[in-house]
Formats: sequence, C-alpha cells, structure tokens
Amino acid sequence: MKASWHTQTLLWAATTTALVARDPEPYHYQPCTGDYCYDVSSLEPRFFPELESERLRISYGPFTTPPSHENNGHFKTYFRTNPPCYDCYLTAIKATLQYPNGTTANTNTSLWLHHVAIMNLVQSSTTCPDGAEIVFASGNERTEAKISLDGTVSAGYYINPHDLLFLLPELMNTAHITQEAVIAVDYEFVTLSDLSVEAGMKKVTPVWLDVDGTCSPDAGAVTVPKGVGERFSLEMEPDWRSDISGDIVYVVGHVHDGGTGVEVRRNGKVVCDGRAKYGETEGYISDEGHSGGYGYGDDGRVDRRQRRALGKGKSRGKKKGKGKGTVPDYDDGDEELSTPPRQGLHISSISTCTLPGRIEKGDEWTVEANYDFTKHAPMVHGGGLAPVMGISLMYVVEDGQ
Ligand SMILES: *[C@@H]1O[C@H](CO)[C@@H](O)[C@H](O)[C@H]1NC(C)=O
Ligand SMILES: *[C@@H]1O[C@H](CO)[C@@H](O)[C@H](O)[C@H]1NC(C)=O
Repeated sequence: MKASWHTQTLLWAATTTALVARDPEPYHYQPCTGDYCYDVSSLEPRFFPELESERLRISYGPFTTPPSHENNGHFKTYFRTNPPCYDCYLTAIKATLQYPNGTTANTNTSLWLHHVAIMNLVQSSTTCPDGAEIVFASGNERTEAKISLDGTVSAGYYINPHDLLFLLPELMNTAHITQEAVIAVDYEFVTLSDLSVEAGMKKVTPVWLDVDGTCSPDAGAVTVPKGVGERFSLEMEPDWRSDISGDIVYVVGHVHDGGTGVEVRRNGKVVCDGRAKYGETEGYISDEGHSGGYGYGDDGRVDRRQRRALGKGKSRGKKKGKGKGTVPDYDDGDEELSTPPRQGLHISSISTCTLPGRIEKGDEWTVEANYDFTKHAPMVHGGGLAPVMGISLMYVVEDGQ
C-alpha cells in the first residue's frame, strides 16, 4: 500500500511538534532556519502599501538534482520551514527556480521546477479532513497564487503562530550532468494590525481538487491508464460535496505536458476553464537533442515503449472506457503519427480564474484534466510515459469572515 504524503508528513511532524511547542516566543523567528534554507531577501511590496505590507523572497536549497540517467533526473524531498511571517495574511505567493548564482533555471537549461507545494500541517484540508492543508502548489509553469487579486481584494492566507509549514519540492533534470538549484518563493503579506483590521482583511480557505481524488496519495500523480489512446480525459471521482460557503477569489490549475487544460465544475457546470499554453517564452522551449528522452522521437515516431503505455494500436486515438477494454497489440513496427507534435515546447502558462462565483454547502465539485498527445508531446520517463496530473486549487473567502 502506498502511504500518502499526508500520512508521511503528518507522522513526521508529530515527532517534531513537541519541539515547536517548547518555543517560548514563536513571534521571534528566523525565516531562514531549518533545513534547506538558503537566503532571505526583502523585495518591494506591490500591494497594500498602506497596510505596511512586506514582500520576502525566501530561497530554499540548494538541491542537487541527479543527471537524467539516474532516477530520471528526479529530486524530491520535503522539510519543515518557517513561514515568512506569523499572524499575517499571505496575499500573493510565487515560486521560481534558479541556479545558486541567481540566474533562472528552466526547460531551456534542462532543469524543471516539476512541482513545489507548501503544506500547513496544523490545518486540515477542506476537501480531505485527514490530510494537511495545501496552501500553495505550482508546477514548472510557475503560476502566481494571486490570493488578493493584485491587492484588489482584501484577503490572504492567514498564518497562525503555531502553524507548521512544510515545503515539498520536486525537481527534474534533463541534462546528462548533475545540476544544483534553488527554489525562490516570493511571499507578499500584510501583518495583523489595527490597520489590517480596519481594512477588513479576510482569511482565505484553500480548496484542493484533484483528478486522483482529494486525498490522493503521492500528491496527485496519476499513471496514464492503459488503452486510453492519445486523447483522453481524467476526472475526479467521486465529486467533493462542499461543506463550506463563500466567495471564490482565485483558481489555479495544473496539468503536465500533453495536457490542453483543466476544468473545474460545480454541479456539472464549468466554473473555471484553465487552458495550457506552450513555449510562450524561450525558457519553455528546450533543445530536445540536448535534453533527450522527452516526448516523441526526433522523426516524429513514437517509440515502442511509449506506444505500449499509450495502448496505441489499431484503435489509435479512440477513447476507451475507464479501465475497461483490452490493450491492443502493437508489434506492427514504427507507426508515424498523423500530426506529430512539435518537440521541445513545454507548458509555459495555465490560465487562471478570478472571482468565478460562489461556493455553497452541498455543491458537488469536480475537476477534469484533458490531454491530447497529438497536439503536445507528453513527458516520458525512461522510455515510458511519465505520470500525469489534473489539479485545481481554489482560494475561497468563507461567509462570516
Ligand atoms: C549561473 O550558473 C549556471 C549553472 O551553473 C551557469 O550555467 C550560468 O552560466 C551561470 N551564470 C552566471 C551569470 O554566472
Ligand atoms: C533560457 O531562457 C531565458 C528566458 O526565459 C533566457 O534569458 C536564457 O538566456 C535562456 N538560456 C539558454 C541557455 O538558452
């Protein structure tokens, strides 16, 4: 049985909580103590200057990512970290990947910010009561969590003095050499004060929806089901029945390469249609000859193992029922794709939704990820298809705040 991230981290945290509880002055913290904390720098705040807002860049790392031929170039860990502030509202969070010298690392330098999530172990997840609350999550597209909509909504994620934050980074190196990198997270925040009370700052509740289920083990990574073909959809089942009500402020989504987008639905109606765009800037265009092993072969042919994973054969492209049907044979030699997707273009943005409406108690919520490998080359690991994802994180100001 797979132990979930939630279970693992909660167990681990339980052993460290006693230590935290002994801290007599939780307010006098160092944002940069603990494992893997590299540097803290102060940036110019962009929103709520009248509330004496602050903006800190905390850099975590350096992390050593193995070369692509070791563990598919993956580095994954998790560790406790101090928040940028206590008794404060996080109004924006954005993560980027850098080399220790401060230059940007991206797919064009063969290094991916595959995932980074921030969890609060003291708060339980709204959609998975036994799991920790996921405060922030980002893939290589590096979407900013605009929790206050660029300062136009007086809202933020509240950090309590005894909250326990964990950072879960996962990096991917497509180069044949080891690479070192740092995850730089920019936190913008407003501290609780008479000013922020007067301004009516409100707390947001993160709502996590995931095609792998709201309590997904392994943070939402799904093996591409056999036999689904090159175009398929994955939907969260069962729906999540809401037990909160309030206004949705912001919705961010995440899919992997090969994905066209991620849809959030309330009672069957689309609330947010997050569309993926590819290779919009140089950082998101890789030289496949150099990075190797990603997507289809240079000649637009799908290699045999990929085809096996796709279940591609005579019924190519046809969507199969969930887990039903047999996987076709495919020893029919190299098969050329009708429209081979362009190589080396990676997801550079996924559109977000602002103020898409209300959430009510009893609503049925789900999320659906759409993939089309004929349009966009998927990620592969060691010749097979890499797991895919379909995630959405909504920030909600609950009623009565
Ligand atoms: C920063 O480090 C990276 C990785 O080692 C290197 O490729 C790049 O040239 C360096 N840039 C500068 C300006 O030193
Ligand atoms: C990668 O892309 C960035 C722009 O996003 C650019 O500044 C940088 O020079 C590129 N690096 C390489 C090695 O192509």
